[in-house]
Amino acid sequence: MGFTANGSSEKPLKFLIYGKTGWIGGLLGQICRAQGIAFEYGNGRLENRSQLEADIAIVKPTHVFNAAGVTGRPNVDWCETHKVETIRTNVVGTLTLADVCRERNLIVINYATGCIFEYDEAHPLGSGIGFKEEDTPNFTGSFYSKTKAMVEELLKNYENVCTLRVRMPISSDLSNPRNFITKITRYEKVVNIPNSMTILDELLPISIEMAKKNLTGIWNFTNPGVVSHNEILEMYRDYIDPYFSWKNFTLEEQAKVIVAQRSNNELDASKLKKQFPQLLSIKESLIKYVFGPNHKTAST
Ligand SMILES: NC(=O)c1ccc[n+]([C@@H]2O[C@H](COP(=O)([O-])OP(=O)(O)OC[C@H]3O[C@@H](n4cnc5c(N)ncnc54)[C@H](OP(=O)(O)O)[C@@H]3O)[C@@H](O)[C@H]2O)c1
Repeated sequence: MGFTANGSSEKPLKFLIYGKTGWIGGLLGQICRAQGIAFEYGNGRLENRSQLEADIAIVKPTHVFNAAGVTGRPNVDWCETHKVETIRTNVVGTLTLADVCRERNLIVINYATGCIFEYDEAHPLGSGIGFKEEDTPNFTGSFYSKTKAMVEELLKNYENVCTLRVRMPISSDLSNPRNFITKITRYEKVVNIPNSMTILDELLPISIEMAKKNLTGIWNFTNPGVVSHNEILEMYRDYIDPYFSWKNFTLEEQAKVIVAQRSNNELDASKLKKQFPQLLSIKESLIKYVFGPNHKTAST
């Protein structure tokens, strides 16, 4: 910390957001509109320094939000066969944006990933001992995660960057195929492992508050606690579709239908909770922001 940003309190907020066509970027724009915060989407490609410089010169932002990144379609397996494209956006691009913004004293709120850890002997499944912000990533099972861990390590040196480790994002829009809940209700078979997850309806507004406070550094950006696939599917059955049923399979069986390994972990969200004491546990947040509101819709 100790970084003095342009977004000082006397200057009205103006956000420059990357990721206009993306899920998180789109939601951020909606939240800014609802809150009356001035913002514009960036037109530049992240890896193109001069395009980023032009965006900043035109928009004159107080803060920059990076919700641009390559996650792979239909899933992260894509990154295994598109390594250079993955590096270009997620490593070269993200670093270029951080560097351009540092030169201009601008904070970057960077939506990163917490899928850079996996349960280990010091953080066993079910123990409640989560990985902390200062822990070194231990999951390299996918090229996507490997490059995200590399870039996080480099970004640590940029005192203008606020790295938010997002995991298995969930939103109240259950029709969105990117939503973790929607994904697992559509799979033929699902594993059943407790994980830390991010309820976007609760946490994206918090990321805007973090910008207002000029917070920087690494943050585990998940709701406190863990929830398993089956616990979510049970809630789905209870709130949305009483006839819903599903089949589980083991990690070994899952490995046969995917290319890259997937990360499973618990992140320790106490740093975020200390800064934002109203932050709900993952199960409370799921009910308040996702299943509760959709239940009303389903019953009308
Ligand atoms: N969704 C998840 O499961 C998840 C989980 C944890 C973390 N995250 C992270 O959160 C960030 C946003 O995720 P998301 O789910 O919102 O992604 P998304 O829906 O796939 O959107 C990605 C956005 O990034 C833009 N983009 C890609 N490459 C770019 C480049 N080189 N320059 C400029 N823009 C570029 C895309 O624009 P174009 O269409 O123009 O390329 C799109 O607007 C990513 O960094 C991702 O790694 C996502």
